[in-house]
Amino acid sequence: MKPYVILCAAETIDGKIASKTGFSKLSCLQDLKRLHTLRANVDAVLVGANTIINDNPLLTVRLINGRNPIRIVIDELLRIPLNANVIIDRSAKTIIVTSNKASKEKISKIHSMDVEVLIMGESINLKNLMEKLYEREIRKILLEGGGILNWHMLYHKLVDELHITITPYILGGDNAISLVRGEGFSSLNDCIKAKLIDYKICSCGREVVLIYKVMY
Ligand SMILES: NC(=O)c1ccc[n+]([C@@H]2O[C@H](COP(=O)([O-])OP(=O)(O)OC[C@H]3O[C@@H](n4cnc5c(N)ncnc54)[C@H](OP(=O)(O)O)[C@@H]3O)[C@@H](O)[C@H]2O)c1
Repeated sequence: MKPYVILCAAETIDGKIASKTGFSKLSCLQDLKRLHTLRANVDAVLVGANTIINDNPLLTVRLINGRNPIRIVIDELLRIPLNANVIIDRSAKTIIVTSNKASKEKISKIHSMDVEVLIMGESINLKNLMEKLYEREIRKILLEGGGILNWHMLYHKLVDELHITITPYILGGDNAISLVRGEGFSSLNDCIKAKLIDYKICSCGREVVLIYKVMY
């Protein structure tokens, strides 16, 4: 059994979630409130190491009243800095998921800061991780990127729903970050399909929120 996973992101018209220089604050305040409402309604938020390194997010609920979900960071090489907000901020629990390749010294430093480090063996098997999280009563997860983690989660059929906010910008750039990175598929025969189940025009009048069910 695995938790229900909702992938949430704000992207430009050309499918970028961050610019070539890492700028990623794309959507309006109303959209951020929508994101915080989603956070308040899940047991955990899940992000990749680069998102922590580039954005240093708190991943808490601040723009509405609600409880903070557990923060889970996927960091196979344990590259995130010790002063990352998810490590030093005490307002929510954080679990850092890593592998045997991580520095033992850094693991014990993080432990001594009262943050859990979950070591998943030689590499991180996301399917096993989802099963482990389910056993810990984590039933609903908000996947907040970035593009590499989104790819691995989708490829392993672990994402159930997509909430994508389209913002009215074009960033372009071969080095800008796409919503989904990784190896990719060759054609519509092997790609992942999704069914549009709802859409909203944001009250700001400039953004569209698309909600899909993923069909594996
Ligand atoms: N606009 C938005 O809504 C939004 C949302 C989120 C993020 N972003 C942007 O996205 C950018 C980051 O995206 P990104 O694609 O570069 O990186 P990412 O997905 O945030 O992180 C990639 C890293 O996560 C770890 N990882 C992910 N999947 C793994 C797996 N299956 N097994 C082992 N490790 C795994 C690896 O860390 P190790 O190298 O330690 O192994 C990998 O290098 C940031 O610039 C951020 O601003 C935008």
